[in-house]
Amino acid sequence: MIPLAQPVLGEAEEQAVLEVLRSGQLSLGPRLEAFERAFAGRLGARHASAVSSGTAALHLALRAAGVGPGDEVVTSPFSFVASANAIVYQGATPVFADIDPVTLNVDPDAAAAAITGRTRALLPVHIFGYPADVPALERHGLPIVEDACEALGAVHADGTQVGARGHPAAFGFYANKQLTTGEGGMLTMGSAEHKERVDSERNQGRAPDMGWLDHDRLGFNYRLTDIACALGMAQLQRLDDMLAARARVAGWYREALAGGELGLPCEDADGDVRGWFVFVVQVPRERDRVIRALRERGIQSKPYLPAIHLLSFYRERFGHRDGEFPVCEDVAARSVALPFFPAMAAGQVAQVAEALLTAL
Ligand SMILES: Cc1ncc(COP(=O)(O)O)c(C=O)c1O
Repeated sequence: MIPLAQPVLGEAEEQAVLEVLRSGQLSLGPRLEAFERAFAGRLGARHASAVSSGTAALHLALRAAGVGPGDEVVTSPFSFVASANAIVYQGATPVFADIDPVTLNVDPDAAAAAITGRTRALLPVHIFGYPADVPALERHGLPIVEDACEALGAVHADGTQVGARGHPAAFGFYANKQLTTGEGGMLTMGSAEHKERVDSERNQGRAPDMGWLDHDRLGFNYRLTDIACALGMAQLQRLDDMLAARARVAGWYREALAGGELGLPCEDADGDVRGWFVFVVQVPRERDRVIRALRERGIQSKPYLPAIHLLSFYRERFGHRDGEFPVCEDVAARSVALPFFPAMAAGQVAQVAEALLTAL
């Protein structure tokens, strides 16, 4: 079976984890700050806070941006459900705006049209690692929270790394991501005030200089263990190689699948650079049959992603219905994620491509 995803884990990771186990300091130890500093340094971000997941990073980022009950947050319906869920956690309403058919990121004009007097923040998602047009959204002067969970290694046209523009930006380290800690996440940000608040709220509202007996605000347990941070440090050291390997695999796919009726991930344009995360194609028809045909040939694939507004929770809670965001709905109905990971061999890519083209 060719799997959808497969992490790169070697001796460096084993060694790093063993060292933490032997140290006996499994949480809130020295690896936490070391990982945060190294991650921020790598991106050119001023601050970073490690947390237990990308979702936790989004939640704390929205809180830092001041989003609360009754507010609206304009975001993309073409994302993993977590980006909208985090808005709902805060008692706010996700207001979706349709996507650009090429980049699959929120269309800046549609986002502008969705802004109302209740809009408290904008939440662009860098979907499939392609930089969202954050510079266009910045013109509205509203707080921005970036979902960069899929976009480690992506770069904006002006040379800033995704996550380094100063807005709180959430990264995810689940096992299929460019860098993994098993589960985990990181919030990068430009504001020292945000950093102070996030560090406290991830740790039950405890002030950094306070004893255990008082907590001066509501918090959560969104901490990342030292074991995970050590894993993250080891992964960070091989990140360039892993990103280059992903880009190489994407190049093989592009060559093998060019010229047919498949929609391929957009090429880097106007100076934006994708941080490769998944290889998602849009099939012209019969997506489910294509996925079944791949499975019969020993190849994992999946529909990726469904439109958030059409998930039953969002239909029921917010009254969404088919036809509201036609570009997103069309893309979501035809998208298939193919096996994609750094160690994938050229022969495996050829095998997937051949099976896919035959199925079509
Ligand atoms: C776009 C997007 N947002 C948010 C998340 C949530 O990250 P996590 O699974 O680490 O909570 C993910 C990860 O799957 C994602 O792909």
